[in-house]
Amino acid sequence: KRGLIIAIDGPAGVGKSTVARLLALRLGYLYLDTGALYRAIAWKVRDAGLSPEEPLAITALLPKTTLHMACGPEQSHVLLDGRDITGELRTPAVTALASMVSAIPAVREWLLPVQRQIGAEGCVVAEGRDIGTRVFPEADVKFFLEADAEVRATRRHRELVAAGHSVHFDQTKRDMTGRDDRDRSRTVAPLIPAPDAERIDTSSMPAEAVVEHMLAVITARL
Ligand code: C5P
Repeated sequence: KRGLIIAIDGPAGVGKSTVARLLALRLGYLYLDTGALYRAIAWKVRDAGLSPEEPLAITALLPKTTLHMACGPEQSHVLLDGRDITGELRTPAVTALASMVSAIPAVREWLLPVQRQIGAEGCVVAEGRDIGTRVFPEADVKFFLEADAEVRATRRHRELVAAGHSVHFDQTKRDMTGRDDRDRSRTVAPLIPAPDAERIDTSSMPAEAVVEHMLAVITARL
């Protein structure tokens, strides 16, 4: 039998990556950051000089693309067409483009086997928007994280500033809300809690507390 699959979904800034990474460390599991895969496709779209309004041209890029992710408990390295682009995936331009590119059904379809192959053996904490509903509907335990929009924007803004980007809080909040709305309203695999997901409001919970709660839920459910 395979190891456990833990699914973590939710909007931007709820602390998914931090919590997923900590949980993977505690369990000795792989951490699968699925957003990085959408970001890699966005990176390629940008590199090819395409706009997100050209879904057919973007779709045509896919068969000529190889995407590998070396997952560990912490940092995952993304190899796109043989090149390590890990350090180039979190810029505001790639973030904005990833949000648009992820609404293209062919992109989501193409990324499904990539994600499923990484999780095939289990022992994985997978984080994204549609993990519990689409990528791993058979996941052993599913979490859906939520938090107040103001709190989420504050976290995201702090991350951007720490990474050396000079952006206004209001702009960060507007961008984040726009991306969430796109994730929630797309036709294919929208952001929505799986019916069997454990919902956690992280607004006033430090990451460590969220992880402790998750470990308790995992233990209780198994
Ligand atoms: O989580 P992260 O911000 O890195 O994801 C980048 C973008 O990829 C998100 O804004 C979202 O639109 C998209 N995404 C998705 N489905 C996932 C993971 C990410 O649509 N499972």
